[in-house]
Amino acid sequence: MKTTIKQAKQHIGQEVTIGAWLHNKRSSGKIAFLQLRDGTGFMQGVAVKSELDEETFQLAKDLTQETSFYITGTITEDDRSDIGYEMQVKSIEVISESHDYPITPKDHGTEFLMDHRHLWLRSRKQHAVMIIRNEIIRATYEFFNEHGFTKIDPPILTASAPEGTSELFQTQYFDQDAYLSQSGQLYMEAAAMAYNKVFSFGPTFRAEKSKTRRHLIEFWMIEPEMAFCNHEESLEVQEQYVTHIVQSVLKNCELELKALDRDTTNLEKVATPFPRITYDDAVEFLKEQRFEDIEWGEDFGAPHETAIANHFDLPVFITNYPTKIKPFYMQPNPENEDTVLCADLIAPEGYGEIIGGSERINDLSLLEQRIDEYGLDADSYDYYLDLRRYGSVPHSGFGLGLERTVAWISGVEHVRETSPFPRLLNRLYP
Ligand code: 4AD
Ligand code: MG
Repeated sequence: MKTTIKQAKQHIGQEVTIGAWLHNKRSSGKIAFLQLRDGTGFMQGVAVKSELDEETFQLAKDLTQETSFYITGTITEDDRSDIGYEMQVKSIEVISESHDYPITPKDHGTEFLMDHRHLWLRSRKQHAVMIIRNEIIRATYEFFNEHGFTKIDPPILTASAPEGTSELFQTQYFDQDAYLSQSGQLYMEAAAMAYNKVFSFGPTFRAEKSKTRRHLIEFWMIEPEMAFCNHEESLEVQEQYVTHIVQSVLKNCELELKALDRDTTNLEKVATPFPRITYDDAVEFLKEQRFEDIEWGEDFGAPHETAIANHFDLPVFITNYPTKIKPFYMQPNPENEDTVLCADLIAPEGYGEIIGGSERINDLSLLEQRIDEYGLDADSYDYYLDLRRYGSVPHSGFGLGLERTVAWISGVEHVRETSPFPRLLNRLYP
C-alpha cells in the first residue's frame, strides 16, 4: 500500500511503500539507519543486513543524500522517535540519484543557504517553519470565517499609496504609472461598507531600504476591516485572533515546535485580554529605562519596542500614537487631538510590531483636510472620499504581518526564514 510518512501512523504493523528522499544516514556493517523525508514528515528507516539480501542492504548503505526512491517496509512503533514509529526496510527502488548535494549536515553560512533557498526548504527546520506558517494561514481562515467575515481580495496594482509615498514600488501600467500594493486597506474600507466585516489576505510590497531581522520587501498581510466598529472593539478582535492562532499552532504543530527547539512557555501564556499601554505612558516608561533621550512625538525603534514588550512578556498594544507619525486616515483621539485612535501590537521576545491598526476617519471634511495636509493627490482618493459621502459609518481595521507572526511563534530569529522565497533588500534570487 502506498502512503506517506505522516499517514504511516495509521499503518502500524503493515507493509507500506513511501516515496521519499534520503535526508541523512548512519550505517555500520550490520545495520543502516536511513533518515527519510517525504515532505509530509521525517522518519527513520532501519535496514538490517541479516534480514535483507546482500544487494538491498548494499543499496541502503550506499544511498546518497537527497537521492529519491520508493521504499517498502513494515511500520513499527518506536518510543524513541519523535513521531513514535519507524520503518523496517524490505526493499528500495531508486528513482533518481543525487550526488554532491550542496547542503551537507555541516554548518553553512546564511548567504550560502539563502542562495540555495530552493534546496534549503527541504531541511528539517525550514520545513517546520513552513508547516507552522501553513497552520497560521489555516487558523486565520478558520477564525474569520467563524466570526462572520467575508474574504475580499483587494487589487495588487494600484494608482495611489495608502501608507505614505516613500516606499512604493513603481511600475508601468500601459501609459500610466502604477504601484504595487503596500496595503489593501483603503479598498477593504470600501468592502466593509458593502459586506460589513471583511478580511483580505494577500501579498504587499514595501520598497523599504531596511535590512533588519523584521523587514521584507514582499510580505503577506491579513487585513480585516469592520463597519460599525470602534477602536476598542477592534482591539478585542485582534487579541482574540492572535490568541486563536497561537493556540492552534501549540495544538497542531507540536512536532514542528520541537524540531525548532521552541521554548513554548511564553506562547502558552498568551490569552485575552492583552496588556495595553498608551504612547504617552510608553514614552515615560522608556525614559525611566535606559532611553532618556526619547522625545514625545518620535516614533519608536526596535530597541524601544523590545524594552516595552520584555516588560510584559506578552503581546502588548501600544495605543494612541501622535497624529504626525501615523498615516492620514486615522481618527483623532477625542481625549487628546494630537493623538489618534490607533494601536500597534508588539510581540514579545524582540519580534516587534506584528499588527498596525486604527479607527478610520469617517467625517468627509476632516478626511479632505488630512489628504491636503499630508500633501496627497485628492483626485486619486476620490473613491475613498465617496465612502464618507454616501452613508459614512464609524469603522476600524488592522493589518497583521504574516511573516513577523510566523517568526515570533516559531522562534526563528529573522523573517527571511519565514517566507519560502523571501524578497530582501539585496535578494531577488532564487
Ligand atoms: O503597520 P502597517 O504599515 O499597517 C498598514 O499597512 C495598515 N494599512 C494595515 C491596516 O490597518 N489594514 O503594516 C501592518 C503590518 C505590520 O504590523 C507588520 O507586521 C507588517 O505589516 N509589515 C511588515 N512585515 C515585513 N516586512 C515589512 N517591511 C513590513 N512592513 C509592515
Ligand atoms: Mg505599522
